[in-house]
Amino acid sequence: MVIKGLKGVAAAETAISHIDGINGQLIYRGIDAGDLTNNHSFEEVSYLLWHGEWPDQQQQQLIELKNELKKQRGLPDYIEKLLISLPAEMDFMSVLRTAVSAAGPANKEKPTYSDAIRLTAMIPTIIAYRKSHLEGRAFVRPSAELDHVENYLYMLNGKRPSESQRKALETYMILTLEHGMNASTFSARVTVSTESDIYSAVTSAIGTMKGPLHGGAPSEVIAFLVEAANSANIEKMIREKLNRGERLMGFGHRVYKTHDPRAVALKTVLLENAGKDAWLDLSMKVETTAVNLLQELKPGRSLYTNVEFYAAAIMKSIQMESELFTPTFTASRVVGWTAHVLEQAENNTIFRPESQYIGRLPVK
Ligand code: CMC
Repeated sequence: MVIKGLKGVAAAETAISHIDGINGQLIYRGIDAGDLTNNHSFEEVSYLLWHGEWPDQQQQQLIELKNELKKQRGLPDYIEKLLISLPAEMDFMSVLRTAVSAAGPANKEKPTYSDAIRLTAMIPTIIAYRKSHLEGRAFVRPSAELDHVENYLYMLNGKRPSESQRKALETYMILTLEHGMNASTFSARVTVSTESDIYSAVTSAIGTMKGPLHGGAPSEVIAFLVEAANSANIEKMIREKLNRGERLMGFGHRVYKTHDPRAVALKTVLLENAGKDAWLDLSMKVETTAVNLLQELKPGRSLYTNVEFYAAAIMKSIQMESELFTPTFTASRVVGWTAHVLEQAENNTIFRPESQYIGRLPVK
């Protein structure tokens, strides 16, 4: 029997995260992810995901991680040259995939925690340098004064972000660090299961993340919201889309059959931080209209907003251009990918499923 898309099939055991799709809960190493955004940093939650426990009380391990991330932010000369020599029309995700692939040492031994830190440290720099190059500006070098998320925004814009901008992006990045056996994580695990190296695994994952049904959704959400903003009748516009069999970007999820808790947490931060905001108002109006129509036209499918829907409003609130949405998602999800790569390598069995042949047989 073929289970298309491996729906409902458990492909690996993991202790990293758990999704309760019925009750709308996402758990990182035994802790509700929604509870982590107020009092914890990107670095602390990354440490938890990689190690399965919090850094020590004296914060020594956290300080070491922060220092190591800062040390690894710079790029080798040849990667900087690569970033300015790739064609200007190449999209950010393809640039990221190429640069990460090029940064990987050949014939690497078993994946290590240091590799995970280096990959996490270098991805924001690759994105920011490429953006500076495309805009004809000099690279903004990483600042050793700033933590991971703040430094990313600093390198992108050449100035320190406001506290509310940092908070909005850090919340988004913490909530998107990890998410079970999603398509890109599965790709990373499949690659490393052949005893290939961690750079190849992350390169596979970036290629998988790029698609609009996975990490490519937020830019499409913006397009959908712009269409709604320009429409005289939002309900009619969405109804027509559904009647044409189109999918509403930012709605539905393979696992969540109720509200995606990440969408709920992002909406809460937006309401707390942004206050009155035209983009947020529009998002909430579209959400209410779309959920009602989905219940009417797709009864029993349990379709609600997913993380990408409110990610679009978060990105707008920090004036992030839509071409940077998926790369930014990548900058957080690399932590989950590398945690899975380390877990897979620790107790490996190569992924090698069967296929069911439906082609012609040789004529006897
Ligand atoms: N809009 C309209 N109908 C939908 C949608 C949607 N966004 N999502 C699912 N459906 C319908 C689908 O048409 C099908 O209806 P029917 O039974 O009449 O054929 C039914 O719901 C089940 O769809 P499915 O394709 O079997 O569901 P899936 O679990 O394979 O798909 C999904 C999950 C995320 C690919 C899908 O919901 C989708 O395409 N959403 C839009 C793209 C999107 O927002 N992606 C971001 C996902 S969250 C980020 C991540 O974790 O990667």
